[in-house]
Amino acid sequence: MAFTLPKLPYPDDALAPHISSKTMQFHHGKHHAGYVKKLNELIEGTPYEGKTLEHIIQESRGKERDRAIFNNAAQSWNHTFFWHSMSPGGGGEPKAAAAEVLQELGGAAAFRESFLKHATGQFGSGWAWLVLDRGKPKIVATANAMTPLADGQMPLLTCDVWEHAYYLDYQNRREVFVSAFLDHLVNWNLVAAQLKKAA
Ligand code: FE2
Repeated sequence: MAFTLPKLPYPDDALAPHISSKTMQFHHGKHHAGYVKKLNELIEGTPYEGKTLEHIIQESRGKERDRAIFNNAAQSWNHTFFWHSMSPGGGGEPKAAAAEVLQELGGAAAFRESFLKHATGQFGSGWAWLVLDRGKPKIVATANAMTPLADGQMPLLTCDVWEHAYYLDYQNRREVFVSAFLDHLVNWNLVAAQLKKAA
């Protein structure tokens, strides 16, 4: 069974004005779709065919000859997780389980500052994440396609900081985009659901 592009969990204009439908159409319909298509081509007839994305990520990690497979599998996984990391009317301060986990990082304001710092400090393309690392919350940034899954961390939330994620709406102003993500888009329900899964 080949991988298919997962549908967005909301209409492509649902995150406007923070992310335009035009950005979503390109980002989901072209970039994410491109990673899925490429991955299918690369794994056809290999032992990776028929395996889950998570399995492919673990198995191809660090293998030089499978680098393209890793990159496309990780980008496929990361993007799906990113769509679910956002919701219309999201962002701001979390409640319940998500608020408790942020307390371990010094509270919502400290989280915001550190997440923004990691997202803007990532040189070139990559991702900013809130993860559980051996049960402890941590903010990390990864370069290019790298995903915390490959390091055995449990992702709770991510923001795509590749230029294709924000260039049409924000040009080079990554900090303004990540601020909009934090203040208006973060899906705290995903964080809570991931925490429940980890418990
Ligand atoms: Fe992306």
